[in-house]
Amino acid sequence: MKVLVVGSGGREHALCWAIAASPLCTKLYCAPGNGGIAQEAECVAIAADDLDGIVGFCRDNHIDFVVVGPEQPLVLGLVDRLDAAGIKAFGPRAYAAVLEGSKGFTKDLCARYGMPTAAYGRFGDAAAAKAFVAEKGAPIVVKADGLAAGKGVIMAETDAEAIAAIDDIFGGRFGAAGAEVVIEEWLIGEEASFFALVDGEHALALATAQDHKRVGDGDTGPNTGGMGAYSPAPVMTRKVIDAVMETIIRPTVAAMNAEGRPFRGVLFAGLMITDNGPQLIEYNARFGDPECQVLMMRLKSDILPALIASADGQLANFDLRWRDEPALTVVMAANGYPGDYDKGTVIGGLDEAAKADGVQVFHAGTALRDGKVVATGGRVLGVTAMGTTIAEAQQRAYAAIDKLDWPEGFCRRDIGWRAVGR
Ligand code: AMP
Ligand code: GLY
Repeated sequence: MKVLVVGSGGREHALCWAIAASPLCTKLYCAPGNGGIAQEAECVAIAADDLDGIVGFCRDNHIDFVVVGPEQPLVLGLVDRLDAAGIKAFGPRAYAAVLEGSKGFTKDLCARYGMPTAAYGRFGDAAAAKAFVAEKGAPIVVKADGLAAGKGVIMAETDAEAIAAIDDIFGGRFGAAGAEVVIEEWLIGEEASFFALVDGEHALALATAQDHKRVGDGDTGPNTGGMGAYSPAPVMTRKVIDAVMETIIRPTVAAMNAEGRPFRGVLFAGLMITDNGPQLIEYNARFGDPECQVLMMRLKSDILPALIASADGQLANFDLRWRDEPALTVVMAANGYPGDYDKGTVIGGLDEAAKADGVQVFHAGTALRDGKVVATGGRVLGVTAMGTTIAEAQQRAYAAIDKLDWPEGFCRRDIGWRAVGR
């Protein structure tokens, strides 16, 4: 079958790498792709949020199946458009992607159906939001309701910070995403990411991961899209996974059905494992990036039939096999990220790095120019390794990174510290 993957990040490189290995896939395209994806798929120059362009390409090229990577096209309704055109696609329709597109929607759903999450208030104006902060007091978490590229969450340690965040959001810092504000209790515990494939009715647990959001070693500095990840997350014991499926994932799938918004695709739960059990921090309606990279490394089964089963409502009785060995990804970013960074610098040593045992180098912001790989984005590479232990995976990933010749890039040197420490 002819498959199109939509997106251009490390997540999409990992998806293309896994899908290209499927005997079901006869031709793989990626829109728009990147310099690394070009090794697995034919890249076509259509932006991920160009819905007309993507639907037109699928029609003209008789695409059998579309896998949508990022949240933006999902929330904009790409899967709705493909469905209407009779083209099968993996990912939620817009009415279900709202689980990621509106934090207020998800909080209200949890309140109505009893999924455990932080206590909250939802506000359309600054005065009411500030009154809530005055009543509850800091520390408290202030969030823009809509998609803000991972930057719409302010952890306020004082009332003054919370008030400033409210003014900032209603002042237009996040545009339309800040038309509403959600204010939450600050949860204490260890964070983990959990992924489940959903077909509208059934949920199939995938694997667990932990992300490193801060730019600097020791989890310092500003938040980023993610500087590294590993899977599995040791905090996610069998017991915790069962509790997450029982109290969060399955009730959400049933609730979305009851609301007339059946969810198909991958449900990515951001969790806080607290003394009172797992609590939902937020949902994403897509694979994580860089979590997808470690998941695809650990997946033994063919991913493509599972994605198709999700789209077809056929996940009941579906099974996937995973390697027990852990995987770890270290993100290489351009100097300056997540602030301003240089573009167009040449990355050397990629072939040497990729030769290392158990290593895959997934590309994010790269392009091919005159036969050379150049950096075009903030997060540029996801150097990923398997190992018999998390410490070995970590050591292999950094050994591969040390083969790279890219002075204009940097990485955190402590990815996996929590798991290695155990
Ligand atoms: P989000 O974009 O909602 O995942 O939030 C980004 C990060 O903010 C999360 O990964 C958590 O580290 C933190 N966070 C968000 N909400 C809370 C909360 N209620 N309590 C504690 N930490 C939170
Ligand atoms: N790595 C976090 C995310 O994809 O949202």
